[in-house]
Amino acid sequence: MKKIFIIGNWKCNPTSLSEAKNLFLSINKKIKKKRKIETVICPPFVYLYPLAQLNRGHKIVLGAQDTFFEEKGAFTGQVSAVMLKDLGCKYVIVGHSEKRAHGDNDEIINKKIHILLKENLTPILCIGETKEEREKKQTFEKIKYQIQEGLRKVAKKYLHKVIIAYEPIWAIGTNKPCPPESVLTISIFIRKTFSALFGLKKTDKIAILYGGSVNADNAKRYVEEARVNGLLIGSSSLKAEEFLKIIFSFY
Ligand code: 13P
Repeated sequence: MKKIFIIGNWKCNPTSLSEAKNLFLSINKKIKKKRKIETVICPPFVYLYPLAQLNRGHKIVLGAQDTFFEEKGAFTGQVSAVMLKDLGCKYVIVGHSEKRAHGDNDEIINKKIHILLKENLTPILCIGETKEEREKKQTFEKIKYQIQEGLRKVAKKYLHKVIIAYEPIWAIGTNKPCPPESVLTISIFIRKTFSALFGLKKTDKIAILYGGSVNADNAKRYVEEARVNGLLIGSSSLKAEEFLKIIFSFY
């Protein structure tokens, strides 16, 4: 049985610990532990520890939104993968377009992926094209490049550990989700790219997520029609009821 990943990326929200606790608890209280569904929440770093204390029944798995690529040392303002692991994080988002917009390039992203795999954490590598690139029909080229550079020199045995999140930039926070049929084409292309670049034979083992204006009305279509293994959810993960509706649609 393949797992379905329902991953909430809270981004830079909410603005107080009490709100974060309320949101987390309202989700934790209502869900059941299911073998088929991996419910993950990626809150801002500062909420990770307090939320881990509230995680009754370990029904929610914690993830982080980023990591630094060194273990420790004189790196003011950074948070390392070792620290995230120590707090109980299992997943870490890397290469989100909002981080790329603030300086993360493919080389930095690649370093982050290496350190995460070394620490036995699961990287969620975000890829996707801009509106302009889509219009110029450069989507496939962009995605292939981001996979190639992001996973440069990753040992073949680790490639299955990386989760790929296809998040077209034009669909993020716009209420204009990418149609499931386009996501299907992209998900097939991503698997083909893994065999072309890395010689992988069993590419169905690679977990692919879709993200970009996912809500309770469209969530299920991506898994059923676009055959992705789950969803990376921004604003709908900040509303407990909406997020729960998404989770329950897979029960
Ligand atoms: P929205 O769901 O708000 O469009 O954000 C998607 C996203 O960026 C998740 O990482």
